[in-house]
Amino acid sequence: MDKKIIYVYSTKGGVGKSTISINLAFYLKKIHKKVTLLDMDFAGPSIPLLLEKNYKNKLKMKNFYIIPFKKNGLNISSIGFIKSPNEISFLTGKYLEGAINQFLNEELFKISDIIIVDMPPGFGEFHRYLFTNYPGKVILITIPHFLSKENLKRGLTLLKHINIPILEIIENMAYFECLNCKKKHQIFGENITKKEFPFKIIQIPFNINLEKSVLSKQKMFSKNIDNIFKEIASDIINEVQ
Ligand SMILES: Nc1ncnc2c1ncn2[C@@H]1O[C@H](COP(=O)(O)OP(=O)(O)O)[C@@H](O)[C@H]1O
Ligand SMILES: [Mg+2]
Ligand SMILES: [Zn+2]
Repeated sequence: MDKKIIYVYSTKGGVGKSTISINLAFYLKKIHKKVTLLDMDFAGPSIPLLLEKNYKNKLKMKNFYIIPFKKNGLNISSIGFIKSPNEISFLTGKYLEGAINQFLNEELFKISDIIIVDMPPGFGEFHRYLFTNYPGKVILITIPHFLSKENLKRGLTLLKHINIPILEIIENMAYFECLNCKKKHQIFGENITKKEFPFKIIQIPFNINLEKSVLSKQKMFSKNIDNIFKEIASDIINEVQ
């Protein structure tokens, strides 16, 4: 069961975890995989806001298990479908573990070939519990900004410390391809290198359609972006087989 989980993770917020998780889940579904998109950002769930604002009473309970609902062929689960974004609850210790176990249950593994987990940023008790109790592989997300690179280093150190394998690094917003001069502009800074980060690195350019496609649920990608998701999807499929 452990081979099914792909964690989309960064210690820094705002680098594209949710956007990439959603686009990846849709891509994998399109190629006929049974995919669950699991939003584990308990403090700031984005999936309900991005995919289904009409969130009340979407999830079902079965023997204390939380069962995702299906939308456009995708299984979707998020604490945001239970609590509205304005309701806050601080879960700690056993309660936190209990909540995690309710989401990642046997039933979920049964109905999914692949579980894409949209992670919260940071590294605390929550992350450690999840990574160590539900082994999977991690796709780390970063942007070419100094702070994000420093966060990436820290993330790698933490994951190494608890022995969690990395599938690859996605450098999101890696460049902006200008429609006028056709050049690739570096908006945030220099791209990361394999020398600094000895993993497979996949670049996703800055692309306004990534957000639009999520919100309108329509594909608006150039072939270029589509091919990038195709490659990430095939790396994932190789992993979960
Ligand atoms: N490649 C991209 N090009 C343009 N905007 C992007 C890209 N990736 C993410 N974004 C935008 O950046 C913001 C943060 O993304 P989000 O997925 O919420 O990050 P995180 O989940 O890591 O906090 C969102 O407004 C999102 O639409
Ligand atoms: Mg997010
Ligand atoms: Zn230009």
